[in-house]
Amino acid sequence: MRRADLIDKTLSLILDDGIKTNFFRSKSFLISGGAGFLGSWISEAICKIGGTVYCVDDFSTSPATNVDHLRQHPNFHLIHENIVTADLSAINCDFVFHLASRPSPEDYQLHPVESLLPNSTGSQKLLSYCKERGIPIAFASTSEVYGDARVIPTPESYWGNVNPVGLRSCYDEGKRYAEALFMAYSRQYNVPVKIFRIFNTYGPRLRADGYYGRAVSRFLMQASSNKDITIFGDGKQTRSFCFVSDTVRGILYFAQSTLVNEVINIGNPEEMTILQLAQAIKEVTNSKSDVVFAPPAPDDPKRRCPDIRKANELLSWTPKIDLKTGIQMTLDWNTSS
Ligand SMILES: NC(=O)c1ccc[n+]([C@@H]2O[C@H](COP(=O)([O-])OP(=O)(O)OC[C@H]3O[C@@H](n4cnc5c(N)ncnc54)[C@H](O)[C@@H]3O)[C@@H](O)[C@H]2O)c1
Repeated sequence: MRRADLIDKTLSLILDDGIKTNFFRSKSFLISGGAGFLGSWISEAICKIGGTVYCVDDFSTSPATNVDHLRQHPNFHLIHENIVTADLSAINCDFVFHLASRPSPEDYQLHPVESLLPNSTGSQKLLSYCKERGIPIAFASTSEVYGDARVIPTPESYWGNVNPVGLRSCYDEGKRYAEALFMAYSRQYNVPVKIFRIFNTYGPRLRADGYYGRAVSRFLMQASSNKDITIFGDGKQTRSFCFVSDTVRGILYFAQSTLVNEVINIGNPEEMTILQLAQAIKEVTNSKSDVVFAPPAPDDPKRRCPDIRKANELLSWTPKIDLKTGIQMTLDWNTSS
């Protein structure tokens, strides 16, 4: 399949009847991390329906190819800067999405300081920008704020079970600090904030290379080349995988809603073991790979599954794409040109 056709297909899954095109068409959006895996789909979807995007990204974890094709788009403006140090004063916009962060466990453990700063200093800068202009801001938080959760499926009301000084703390605690800062700006300065906690998302543009690769993309690459599929731990740990069009659609539904000062889980509630994921990927790719086991990652949560009743009730959002369809689309993307 041609890459351009896969982009159109993914965008049509994002931009369904629930999207209020008038909301996006009439506005300008500053999107930090707008060239990343999730950010590039948000940027592209908004440009497609006529909104204006100011994408602030330093390409620290994403390739420029994610947005190369958007550079000619009249509504897409790329600001190649670190959100921690960027001067945003000349950007006029109506709404901010803050996604800049280093979400891959291997990557953030190699760059713990650079991982904390976009969530701490970067969040403070963007909140202050929104306070000055009286505009809303949506924040990409994570299921990792729940740590090794004891309540499964995990509702937004769960407080978390996180190691504050462990190897993952530069990410978990960065997001937890950011959530606290967002709520503080809301309470003290009336900045309208929207916090979405994303659970594992996969699909076109999720990187598979090197230490960056996350489970779905890494397994797909290993299975497609009949190499061993490496599972860290015994494979009994669970995750819930949401296809990118569903996650991005959930984020846009939240953005366009009148809900503010709320926290909402966005994820797929189909919980499965990592071993089941490896087997599903082997089936879709018709692979001869063996599954091999390596020592577990430190502080790896045993189970992860979202309770999405809040998103369902308040946003009428629910994921639509099943795992095999999503894996096939990701495989098509990886083999497309
Ligand atoms: N993909 C998931 O499964 C998932 C799950 C939970 C939370 N999230 C959150 O969603 C957001 C987007 O994640 P993603 O999967 O698209 O990852 P990604 O790495 O593809 O995107 C992050 C983007 O932020 C940019 N960036 C990082 N630090 C920056 C900085 N200091 N200044 C400017 N740009 C910077 C990167 O270059 C990249 O383009 C992140 O905040 C992440 O924590 C993602």
